[in-house]
Amino acid sequence: MPRKIPAGNWKMNGLQSTLSELKTLEDKHGDADIAILICPPFTLISACEDTPFDIGGQDCHTAESGAHTGDISAEMLADAGASYVLVGHSERRTDHGETDALIAAKAQAAYNAGLIAVICIGETLQEREAGKTLDVIDTQLAGSVPDKADAQNTVIAYEPVWAIGTGKVPTTAQIADVHAHIRRRLQDRFTDGAEFTLLYGGSVKGSNAADIFAVPNVDGALVGGASLTAADFSPIIVALESA
Ligand code: 13P
Repeated sequence: MPRKIPAGNWKMNGLQSTLSELKTLEDKHGDADIAILICPPFTLISACEDTPFDIGGQDCHTAESGAHTGDISAEMLADAGASYVLVGHSERRTDHGETDALIAAKAQAAYNAGLIAVICIGETLQEREAGKTLDVIDTQLAGSVPDKADAQNTVIAYEPVWAIGTGKVPTTAQIADVHAHIRRRLQDRFTDGAEFTLLYGGSVKGSNAADIFAVPNVDGALVGGASLTAADFSPIIVALESA
């Protein structure tokens, strides 16, 4: 069975003072049956080490070290206490022009450092309206998931770009179609394709989480805005625990 993961991506949010939210979350969910993943900004990773949560970076460089001003290596993330790293988030694909090949190299760097790569994929609104969603998913899966991926070292996050931070959520039928497609592609390519954790991301909230988690092949969520406070993230965790 795939692992269930409620994951919070704090993006470029979070100061030392925000750590009190994790304390509140720990009081509520410190002994949860499922492992909770928090991806804070790089600056807070070390400070999260004492929490019971799995910690992830939001990006890594392809190299272990070297002359890459402003970048962070997967090895550094592991050294700071992370066990996961997001790669290929649509905001990085858009803001930094990241390609599938670069994302695959980042995922491979994550494996080399012993990190689990959360590889993000998803179509734009224009691509969906042009009927190209599954083609985009195929291209991104083929290009950004390394051959060395397996269900232990890789999580796939489906995040339709048009649903991120917009309050617009695909129908459960649309999520089901894409997740079933991703599952089939993973099973075609990897012997343990049935075991990969598949996350849905894009405007997940306490109010829609239970419906989304009832969709086949949805094993958790990658949550942006609603992961920033314990009050908003907690109901999503509860919904996944009881899914
Ligand atoms: P929102 O939950 O704010 O829509 O963000 C989703 C996301 O991009 C998580 O990586």
